[in-house]
Amino acid sequence: MTHRQFITLTVNGDRREVVVTPEMLLLDVLRDGFGLTGTKRGCTSGACGVCTVQGDDGRAVLSCLSLAIQWDGRSVTTIEGVAGPEGLHPVQQAFLEFGAVQCGYCTPGLVMTVKALLDRTPAADAAAIDEALAGAICRCTGHIKVKEAARQAVLRLQAAAQEQAHGPAQG
Ligand code: FES
Ligand code: FES
Repeated sequence: MTHRQFITLTVNGDRREVVVTPEMLLLDVLRDGFGLTGTKRGCTSGACGVCTVQGDDGRAVLSCLSLAIQWDGRSVTTIEGVAGPEGLHPVQQAFLEFGAVQCGYCTPGLVMTVKALLDRTPAADAAAIDEALAGAICRCTGHIKVKEAARQAVLRLQAAAQEQAHGPAQG
């Protein structure tokens, strides 16, 4: 008989108990347990990045390589939790404006990858963006627009932080 156990997992601020088996992936719990299908299933071997979510330490996590049981008592953010009441997150907005979304299958993973990078490294330069996106595959955009969008998101987040610190720019 397969051993089952309850774990407590907080996803996008929603704390729930879910039953898991030892081999169940975080990806399975998010999609099948929580119904959050924005996190995509791709290679399931860590090679494409479409399953990326953000862990409670702010880092990007490949949910296809992470066992659900390891997340007992912890929290994750998925693409469904990124936009706020005021609208899209600056990373999402930049993706839209810079044409970084085509078929969209990779988009949640790419947005989570860039968001995780910028949350931890707000002044990420082009090399850091390239490195963060190195493990993510997009078959449609060729990554150029994705990287442009990520660089634009850095500028916008920096401008927003400055405005918060010093008030809106005059002129
Ligand atoms: S599905 Fe997780 S890296 Fe491809
Ligand atoms: S937009 Fe289609 S795979 Fe990236």
